[in-house]
Amino acid sequence: MPFVSLEGVDGAGKSTHVGWMADWLRARGHAVVETREPGGTPLGESLRDLLLGQAMCPDTELLLMFAARAEHIHQVIRPALARGEWLLSDRFTDASYAYQCGGRGIPAERLHVLEQWVQHGLQPDITFVFDVDLAIARQRLAAHGAADRFEQEDGAFFSRVQHVYRQRAAAEPARVRLVNTDRTLDQIRADLVGMLLEIGA
Ligand code: TYD
Repeated sequence: MPFVSLEGVDGAGKSTHVGWMADWLRARGHAVVETREPGGTPLGESLRDLLLGQAMCPDTELLLMFAARAEHIHQVIRPALARGEWLLSDRFTDASYAYQCGGRGIPAERLHVLEQWVQHGLQPDITFVFDVDLAIARQRLAAHGAADRFEQEDGAFFSRVQHVYRQRAAAEPARVRLVNTDRTLDQIRADLVGMLLEIGA
């Protein structure tokens, strides 16, 4: 069954859509595993705490993201797909390209190596990238209160992150779908439903 990932800069509203999407798929009778990165396993959640809270150099950050991902693929993603269930992941490898390459400036070649090593060709069937006006994303983050290590980054960082997401959507339009969030929730959901039906929902 399909492997779906959801992406976007912090404050794009992604989290609202993940829960709704899982409910919508379940209401249509599908078995759905809802998970997230970094995280999704006990070890991955411990790594998430470190990644979101602890200062570290960009290479360490990238390697820990992929350590968490290796565990997640092994324990959660492949088993769910083998059982024929839908797998919905709140972020996956596109986030590493956007944040660690775009945001932190790590060359993409390093990430290609890790991607092949850890994923052995596994890719989401569809990736929704929630695209947002960065000023709106910033307001949402400010309203949230305590910001994690990524959310504390400046506007230039998020503009590089969003730029990479847009580039990836342009380079792989069949898989990576940009979702314009500058619309009503009903309009956005109608769009998502159309794309989910396309992949067999
Ligand atoms: P996020 O998905 O925004 O969760 P929440 O909505 O609970 O804040 O938090 C995860 C953070 O991790 C986010 O800022 C992006 C970052 N991240 C990376 O930098 N690289 C990655 O590969 C992944 C999966 C996440």
